[in-house]
Amino acid sequence: MTETAGQGFGIDVGGTGIKGAIVDLATGELAGERIRIETPKPATPEAVAATVAEIAKQAGWTGPVGVTMPAVVLNGVTKSAANIDESWVNADAGKIFTEALGGVPVAVLNDADAAGLAEDRFGAAAEAKGLIIMLTFGTGIGSAIIYNGVLIPNSELGHLEMGGKEAEHRAAASVKENNDMSYKDWCKQVSKVLTTVENLFWPDLFIAGGGISKKSEKWIPLLTNRTPIVPAKLLNTAGIVGAAMAANSLANS
Ligand code: BGC
Repeated sequence: MTETAGQGFGIDVGGTGIKGAIVDLATGELAGERIRIETPKPATPEAVAATVAEIAKQAGWTGPVGVTMPAVVLNGVTKSAANIDESWVNADAGKIFTEALGGVPVAVLNDADAAGLAEDRFGAAAEAKGLIIMLTFGTGIGSAIIYNGVLIPNSELGHLEMGGKEAEHRAAASVKENNDMSYKDWCKQVSKVLTTVENLFWPDLFIAGGGISKKSEKWIPLLTNRTPIVPAKLLNTAGIVGAAMAANSLANS
């Protein structure tokens, strides 16, 4: 299939899987199968780029592509590597993906920023106005800050330090899992993180994302923050949809 007007292609690079699909940009729904390939080990730029190209090939997609990375991304260059192979620091991801994809334009953006863009347009915050902060709870904590639809990229609130410990080392979903914590104990840590964030930014709404937001009814009610908090709606498609949105704005810029 070749690209049709109103469609985009997004690829979400995660620690365990790399997932991609064609996206209907009018609805935010997937317009084709969600293709998932295990993240190569080690996840070097070249190995990840080859997987990204394989996903586009399997989908038959030949147009511009959006790719998310769990890293700070400045002008297509990945600048950090908290939970990925350190060879990504200062890698020209945009150039590496473009080459692997046979020369097509590629938009590279932070994974939480992509998820935030998608939730803001099509998901949990579609009706909301003002300042929205999305936090994704996974291996680390990702963040997206969006004000009236405009993303302030690369916010990295997961690395905010409180009480001598980074937010993601207190309250990522991986911390709950690795320490066999109850929702109650884990939520004390999540509340601490959210309190720090709300006291600094005074958002109108928090969105809780990441795989653990699928079970939001078990833990969102345990949080003690003043800011309203809603679970992400798009779940495992948010990164793909946000990446496709970014590729589309690149194509139209
Ligand atoms: C990284 C962020 C990323 C988040 C979620 C953090 O460790 O620094 O860039 O968005 O993990 O993957």
